[in-house]
Amino acid sequence: MTNELKGKVNYSVNGNIAILEVDNPPVNPLSSGVRAGLAEFIEKANSDDSIKGIILTGAGRSFIAGADISEFGKSFDGPDLNSTLRDIEFSKKPVIAAINGTALGGGLETALVCNYRMGTNKAIVGLPEVNLGLLPGAGGTQRLPRLVGPSQALKMMLSGAPLSAEKALTSGILDAISENSLIEDAIEFLQDKIELSEHPKVRDKNEKVLEARGSENVLAEAKALAAKTRRGQFAPGQIIACVEAAINEDDFDAGLKKESEYFLECLMNPQREAMIHIFFGERAASKISDIPKDTPLMSINSAGIVGSGTMGGGIAMNLANAGIPVLVLDQDEKNLERGMGVIEKNYQMMVDRGRMSEEQKEKVFGLITPTLSYEDLANVDIVVEAVYENLELKQEIFKTLDSVTNNNTILASNTSGLDIDALASVTERPGKVVGTHFFSPANVMRLLEVVRGKDSSDETMATVMSLGKRMGKAAVVSLNAPGFIGNRMLAGYTYQANMLLLEGALPSQVDNALESFGMSMGPFRMLDLVGLDLGWRARKLANIETPLANKISDELCERDRFGQKNSRGFYNYSEGSRAPNPAPENEEIYKEISEKNNIKRREISDQEIIDRCILALVNEGARILEEGVAQRSGDMDIVYINGYGFPIWRGGPMFYANQLGLKEVIKKMDVFSELDKEFWKPAPLLQKLSDQSASFGEAPPVGERSELLSFKQANMGGV
Ligand code: 3HC
Repeated sequence: MTNELKGKVNYSVNGNIAILEVDNPPVNPLSSGVRAGLAEFIEKANSDDSIKGIILTGAGRSFIAGADISEFGKSFDGPDLNSTLRDIEFSKKPVIAAINGTALGGGLETALVCNYRMGTNKAIVGLPEVNLGLLPGAGGTQRLPRLVGPSQALKMMLSGAPLSAEKALTSGILDAISENSLIEDAIEFLQDKIELSEHPKVRDKNEKVLEARGSENVLAEAKALAAKTRRGQFAPGQIIACVEAAINEDDFDAGLKKESEYFLECLMNPQREAMIHIFFGERAASKISDIPKDTPLMSINSAGIVGSGTMGGGIAMNLANAGIPVLVLDQDEKNLERGMGVIEKNYQMMVDRGRMSEEQKEKVFGLITPTLSYEDLANVDIVVEAVYENLELKQEIFKTLDSVTNNNTILASNTSGLDIDALASVTERPGKVVGTHFFSPANVMRLLEVVRGKDSSDETMATVMSLGKRMGKAAVVSLNAPGFIGNRMLAGYTYQANMLLLEGALPSQVDNALESFGMSMGPFRMLDLVGLDLGWRARKLANIETPLANKISDELCERDRFGQKNSRGFYNYSEGSRAPNPAPENEEIYKEISEKNNIKRREISDQEIIDRCILALVNEGARILEEGVAQRSGDMDIVYINGYGFPIWRGGPMFYANQLGLKEVIKKMDVFSELDKEFWKPAPLLQKLSDQSASFGEAPPVGERSELLSFKQANMGGV
């Protein structure tokens, strides 16, 4: 093996058993050195007469986390994966996979070419390639259906969701679970099999695929599942086509050949690059560029929430699901009771849908305790304030928390836009104050904006980011600036949607265009969901004249159309339904308002709708990046995919702009500037990168670019 290869395999012998241990920290992907090591040591074990069986296992916490994702789209060194797996599958000596942790993607595919599979009770197996715009391309689409049946294999491959050891055992992926020492148990297992003249190979197990032959049901169900859960994605159709081959091809190798062809098509598809950008982008976002990697983390073993409303309840569930006991405080007993009731109902719904057992529900719900007294929060490690958006109220709460909790407690606010420094300033511990902006419903949405105040300490930031990961969130750091990252970008997007309505488009056209682009919900359906009256009431209260873009929605409110909450807004809704129906009675209003404001309505193309709304995100994103409010352009992609329904397969708005080419972005904006010169002025960073024929990823890291801004200095651009 040469030094340039990445990762290695350790070889040792225990009696008559060779042990191959994949060693490529931290999670043992099948990088070049691992593939080379496996090929070399399978050969070595096979040519050593004293060896009668082989154990394949992983060092550390993972078995094998799959193919090395960083190799995709590049040329690679060492043997290819399929030939390495062939060496294992046709080993003369029996091979057992001793699965010590995660066996994902190519990791599970490696285990599937072994004759036997044993896991610890912490083992996790799955084929998550679909999340990367790929299909299992090392035989997984042909072998898994043979082991668990095509229907379950399709569910696993289309969802990408892994199975626990227990489920892997019942579904036939594992032959046994080790309760003690995995390697000792694997040796014992192999000793029992050594004398057998033949050892089972998954490729030969045809019963389950033959059973499905001739029936359309399995594939039809899979297509329906893919259409529902993976709208617009390329890989799911390819996965289904592979399984169709597994069912219908008589020759196993013919199925494998099809899998390779379909895999290559996924690999060449732009969706793969976009989704892998998101995989690495999420991991990059979890790091704070100017905070040392070894910053000590505070341990978070208990938490408090102030406010038992929808947000407070959702956040409490996140913490409890991560195993952290939570005290939920509300000063109103009735609210508290109601809040706890909603939490229990949410958990019950998960039980009813089969997502959680009754036992698990008891366990997590048991971690959430209601309280009416601030004194009970004295010794918790973190408190998240989640009351409604009112600075004075939040400042009062922070003062109280500062006096009742011990000095080490982190004080976090779930504000969606208030000044974190103004909250920190009323405490004696500004270093321990931070924003944690969860998205609603907090127990479902993955995005967490972690807002860095001017005094938030490195330790506080690193601890909250790590807590985000523990809760399964996609955590992104934002500087403490108006709208943070997500809502600031959203403002321009919604502004354009509203202007398109004034210029001649109908809500359904705008929504349909953006939903076909891949957004999970168009802007007018979203506005109806949020409630049109919020802005209208706020403007009335503050005596602010309605801005042009809001003239239509305010007029709808004047006519008692508030959105879903009273079954009419931009759309009409039937009682108890969220499905939007056309509201032709609104069309006269749209015409009237356009006319009153001297706007000539015209035919607007779907492409113009998409370009104006999405490029509004991009231009504001460029300003956010330039100001250092976001650390990197990929962070904004993570925000938009996890918090605002942007299609993952397009890689987020900034990645989308890169793929379009920044020169093309500027060209399109130039055309729109005829409509609104100020709005479509390119952000200086966008212009600069375009002039240099560069892209957003190539922008220098924050710190070199500009001084970090304070809340008040931040420029809201054209929003
Ligand atoms: N290839 C390359 N690097 C990988 C990797 C992989 N398969 N899996 C993880 N890494 C890297 C991460 O980028 C991260 O790097 P960093 O420290 O520089 O940021 C590091 O390993 C640790 O990863 P996580 O932070 O994600 O560690 P966790 O402990 O939170 O999670 C995990 C571990 C569950 C294994 C998670 O990393 C994961 O889901 N990995 C990807 C699994 C996957 O998708 N496998 C399929 C790959 S495609 C394939 O196999 C194709 C085949 O069919 C041919």
